[in-house]
Amino acid sequence: MKIRVGLTKTPKAKPAPGQKLGFGRIFSDHMFVMNYKTGKGWHNPRIVPYGELSLSPAALCLHYGQTVFEGMKAYYGQQGDILLFRPDENFARLNRSNQRMAIPPIDEELCIQGVKKLVEIDKDWVPRQDGASLYIRPFIISTDPILGVHPGDEYLFIIITSPSGAYYESGLEPVKIYVESKYVRAVRGGTGMAKTGGNYAASLLAQDEAHQQSYSQVLWLDGVEQKYIEEVGAMNVFFVLDGEVVTPELHGSILPGITRKSSIQLLRDWGFKVSERRITIQELDEANDRGQVLEAFGTGTAAVISPIGELKWGEKQMVFNHGKIGALTQQLYDTLTGIQYGRLPDPHGWSVAVCKG
Ligand code: PLP
Ligand code: COI
Repeated sequence: MKIRVGLTKTPKAKPAPGQKLGFGRIFSDHMFVMNYKTGKGWHNPRIVPYGELSLSPAALCLHYGQTVFEGMKAYYGQQGDILLFRPDENFARLNRSNQRMAIPPIDEELCIQGVKKLVEIDKDWVPRQDGASLYIRPFIISTDPILGVHPGDEYLFIIITSPSGAYYESGLEPVKIYVESKYVRAVRGGTGMAKTGGNYAASLLAQDEAHQQSYSQVLWLDGVEQKYIEEVGAMNVFFVLDGEVVTPELHGSILPGITRKSSIQLLRDWGFKVSERRITIQELDEANDRGQVLEAFGTGTAAVISPIGELKWGEKQMVFNHGKIGALTQQLYDTLTGIQYGRLPDPHGWSVAVCKG
């Protein structure tokens, strides 16, 4: 399918070099759009000026949350190339989310072409400053103007992009996280493994309450017994124990993070034993009391590699590595961002060049 291009006649001013970007607040000049209709399939892929949508107030997605999304980044590389990181993984996951949310599958190859074309057209929006990138948000919504509860027959697939800085204002300063024991985010058999809006809506109240106590995020426990560690609001978690790096196994309620998968690979390349297994908060606490939790960190596209300095679990405060970033966390951050920004060799072929910057 050919992607039609219609360029804006009124390009916006780009952020000034050195301007504080924040996360997901500024949007580039164009977006990718494609429609779906039952009987016709996905059609009319196009790049158009970034702008408002026109939707019926009865649109299905607004009422019943039939939505999915992805998060990826374009980096301004060391050699002046614009680079994507494992875009095939994002669109494969989007299709897994689609399957769970009863949304028709997309053509992954076409979407990769679409994102590359969009990034190439808006390449001057890819920030040059250290640690910044062009955050890319593909998403799908059902648009049928019908209030009955059923999967849609009409969808919009859109990709927007946003020059962004660090997700956490604290950057590489270790974050303090609240272990949630009242609310749950997801259960096995639910939608936790899908990247769908409802999972995030379900997390907002807990996040708000954690913020009120000066914690930046919530660590979710399993939705049944609230014993097993699952993940943080926008990242997967890892604990460096004596002789073993542990991350919760994927069993349906946790998002299978692409940064998680890449981190496991790098750690194994370096000879670490990485266990994807169930770990209770109790086990972590006891190991920490014995001094056997050496480091803790989160992984995510927006969050990158984010050291965790402290977990608050009930009355208990678990501090890791004296609240400082650990050596392995730093090595992982340096290596992953080194590959993403084209500063280091890319032995697994994760980095995909789009065009010259
Ligand atoms: N878990 C949740 C709930 C997320 O929103 C994200 C972010 O996408 C992640 C984990 C990390 O996934 P990834 O590394 O693919 O960005
Ligand atoms: C990402 O890391 O891309 C995410 O989607 C996290 C987010 C919800 C900001």
